[in-house]
Amino acid sequence: MKIYGIIGNPVEHSISPEMHNAAFRELEINAIYCKFRVLRNELKNAVNGIKALGINGFNVTIPYKESIIPYLDYLDKNAKMIGAVNTVKLEGNKLRGYNTDGKGAIIPLKRIMRINGKRALILGAGGAARSISFELLHENIECIYIANRTMKRAIRLSNDLRKYGCNSYVIKLDDNTLRKVIDDVNFVINCTSVGMYPNINESLLSSDMLHSKLIVEDIVYNPLKTRLLQNAEIAGARTISGIEMLVFQGALSFEIWTGIKAPVDIMRISALDAIMKFNKRR
Ligand code: ATR
Repeated sequence: MKIYGIIGNPVEHSISPEMHNAAFRELEINAIYCKFRVLRNELKNAVNGIKALGINGFNVTIPYKESIIPYLDYLDKNAKMIGAVNTVKLEGNKLRGYNTDGKGAIIPLKRIMRINGKRALILGAGGAARSISFELLHENIECIYIANRTMKRAIRLSNDLRKYGCNSYVIKLDDNTLRKVIDDVNFVINCTSVGMYPNINESLLSSDMLHSKLIVEDIVYNPLKTRLLQNAEIAGARTISGIEMLVFQGALSFEIWTGIKAPVDIMRISALDAIMKFNKRR
């Protein structure tokens, strides 16, 4: 039997096990996916243990997406560019790090829009914002505006994108500036945790700041329809729920590990089911 898992802290709330185990069952793959809560001072030991035990692959979540890098043997080109890893595969006796977060967010967007030549507003400048911005760069986006509560982080991301030839601008996270920029962009992606359960009434953008020609994507998946997505609907914009990114980043990890096409629809159903169960329990 092959063993996969997720490491992070906390991991109790993660629904990746439900998603991946459903995929293994569907494809009759003899494998299991488990949660491993790892304390910060145990990260190195945990990674060495994973290697020694021959655990075949794992996801990495908050807060270790960056700090795991020194303990890996190789990084895929994209993970290196982003500076963060969410997927690790044991190859022989070496660990290789990948990042599927950005692609996971872009797949649902590309289903309804060509990114080439478009303009985007990214809210946030953390790991998710970095991986998504670099993926937009690979898709030949015309321009990325970045707004973040901590300006310094936004400047760092913008400078890193510019090094690779991306037109990127840092803007203030204030309503007037956002309003002007939103009038000029084709889509907005919230890469912050604002609006996540239990703060379900929070949104960085109100409905009167949005318009009907926009696509608005949220990376927050609980609640499924965040306040931001509700506001976007009121403004007549198209919306993409955070569940899509969750499912596609998971599907891409699955494919890296197994080399088999992931059963995306089964993974989505099991993720939705797990969120509903989580919300019933609380
Ligand atoms: P991840 O790796 O999931 O992106 P992260 O690196 O902790 O996680 O980033 C979280 C993002 O949400 C950051 O952009 C953070 O802003 P700061 O860089 O200023 O911390 C943003 N964020 C979290 N809570 C926020 C809030 N209440 N208002 C505005 N932005 C917030």
